[in-house]
Amino acid sequence: MKIAVLPGDGIGSEIVAEAVKVLKALDLSFEMEEAPVGGAAYEVSGHPLPDSTLNLAKAADAILFGAVGDWKYDTLDRPLRPEQAILGLRKHLGLFANFRPAICYEQLTHASSLKPELVAGLDILIIRELTGDIYFGQPRGRRVATDGHFPGAEEAFDTMRYSRPEIERIAHVAFQAARLRDKRVTSVDKANVLETFQLWKDVVTEVGQHYPDVALDHMYVDNAAMQLVRAPKRFDVIVTGNMFGDILSDEASMLTGSIGMLPSASLNAQNKGLYEPSHGSAPDIAGKGIANPLATILSAAMMLRFSLGQAAAADRIEQAVKTVLAQGFRTVDIAEAGAKTVGTAAMGDAVVAALTAQG
Ligand code: IPM
Ligand code: MG
Repeated sequence: MKIAVLPGDGIGSEIVAEAVKVLKALDLSFEMEEAPVGGAAYEVSGHPLPDSTLNLAKAADAILFGAVGDWKYDTLDRPLRPEQAILGLRKHLGLFANFRPAICYEQLTHASSLKPELVAGLDILIIRELTGDIYFGQPRGRRVATDGHFPGAEEAFDTMRYSRPEIERIAHVAFQAARLRDKRVTSVDKANVLETFQLWKDVVTEVGQHYPDVALDHMYVDNAAMQLVRAPKRFDVIVTGNMFGDILSDEASMLTGSIGMLPSASLNAQNKGLYEPSHGSAPDIAGKGIANPLATILSAAMMLRFSLGQAAAADRIEQAVKTVLAQGFRTVDIAEAGAKTVGTAAMGDAVVAALTAQG
């Protein structure tokens, strides 16, 4: 089993190091190879996704990814910005299905910005389409060269598009995922205004007819954003496009106490996947050793389950995370007022200790 390890920028290297530590503590044999990505790759090679990194990712069975991005690259031409690395990996590897679970762990009910009774026991799954939508339409603007030169005009646009096959395959993913859960899918769209999302709604409805055992409802994205903070437990699986999924998954993350707790998996049709925390590179806290590594550690568990056929090892990691939370280990982002906190490495060590103690 070969894992490409791409730490990236900001807190990326700190959190990925802890996930690697946890993987090494399992009695499984992996080959892990590290490569630069994002701003870190731009610094050494002039490109955020150099061929060497892309080829390593393509050759591996799974990719463990940290985060990319830093404000200092905001003035670069768009194709050279760190974010293009993750977008490029998603596109080149066909990683169209993004799983972003939002689970509120018992001990963290009080870390949520919502009232404890609204989030206690929360377990929702956002399935975000990841290789289409306005993210991959045609851009035109100040940081995108057209015919080799920058237009510099005071107008910019991006095109939103989806095709029927793109919607069908993500809809199937959502219904199949729902079958393993509470058998309810909410499709989030903006069909009242956008043609792209009228097609989305129609196609999801058609696909839903193949899953009579799964309840389907439709919700406009503005209402979904509101319902997520009003009564989040009404949801089971949410399926939506790239742009809305980006926004709603950040929103959902805060229900769980901290975005530092949320893992994600991005899969292609062959179940090859890239695994990354849902949060970003957090340059403001980079290098301080305080970032929460649990989202990345939980992403490694998803990697074991979805791409490496090691479900038992994934269960063990998830159990170990519950154990350390029960033992009271808290990074600053999930600490109760006045609680004692641990840093990134100590949290990783605690997970390893909990794993080892499982015998
Ligand atoms: C995410 C991030 C990315 C996205 C950025 C870094 C390009 O916000 O994975 O949610 O917008 O998809
Ligand atoms: Mg995002």
